Amino acid sequence: MAGKILIYGGTGGIGSATARLLYERGYRLHIVARNADGLQEAAREWNATFTQGDVNDPALFQRAVEEAGTPLDGLLYAVGTINLRPIHRLSVEDFTRDFAVNALGAALAVQAALPALRQSEHTASVVLFSTVAVRQGFALHASISMAKGAVEGLTLALAAELAPKIRVNAIAPSLTRTPLAQGLISNEQMATAIAAMHPLQRLGTPEDIAALAAFLLSPESDWITGQVIGVDGGRSTLRVKA
Ligand SMILES: NC(=O)c1ccc[n+]([C@@H]2O[C@H](COP(=O)([O-])OP(=O)(O)OC[C@H]3O[C@@H](n4cnc5c(N)ncnc54)[C@H](OP(=O)(O)O)[C@@H]3O)[C@@H](O)[C@H]2O)c1
Repeated sequence: MAGKILIYGGTGGIGSATARLLYERGYRLHIVARNADGLQEAAREWNATFTQGDVNDPALFQRAVEEAGTPLDGLLYAVGTINLRPIHRLSVEDFTRDFAVNALGAALAVQAALPALRQSEHTASVVLFSTVAVRQGFALHASISMAKGAVEGLTLALAAELAPKIRVNAIAPSLTRTPLAQGLISNEQMATAIAAMHPLQRLGTPEDIAALAAFLLSPESDWITGQVIGVDGGRSTLRVKA
């Protein structure tokens, strides 16, 4: 009983790994991103339709939903930023951009998709992205943690407001090997050092995160809503050395 899923950031590391899984499971996909080449590749690979645009443009969201068509059975918002700086080096523009892309974009994406999600024959599902750095404090993360903290608040508020017709959950990954994280992991020494901070002794792969995203978008998770679930190699909750 697959349906249609709208994926913002469906050409990115986590978004494309999720799109691939969903396609293999028979879902139809509509992908949103900025880069035309990536979108055309997605269209070829997964027979997806797409909308090209920037989530900083509020007009994008309505256009994306119109082009995706009604009904929609799920929405994945897999767009984000990593902007790590000490607080004294964060500008108003940094805070504003991180909030706009991570949190406001997620809210506007859900808002625009609501009528189409309500038309789903089943319980529709929304999946948003937080980060491990919300529930655990990390230096240099003030702007991104603040923006993703807003995503966690949004997840719970919408899960309450949209029940029982629409489920809303968020995934909180730790560092995952995607283009977004490239700046942190292109230095293999640094990647190895960060991997060692995880009880499971490695960084995440897009597939680690996609497995949960696809589950949360599917009816298999039909009794799960209002949750923020860590996929983080144990980093958020465990200390393995005394
Ligand atoms: N990777 C990690 O370590 C990590 C850790 C914690 C949380 N997360 C979260 O996981 C989610 C997915 O991240 P990822 O690592 O898969 O990122 P990614 O590989 O950089 O992919 C981002 C996707 O979003 C699109 N995108 C970026 N900016 C956009 C904009 N302004 N307007 C429209 N589309 C835009 C990109 O395509 P275009 O460039 O063509 O637009 C791409 O499809 C994000 O919310 C991120 O914050 C990731």
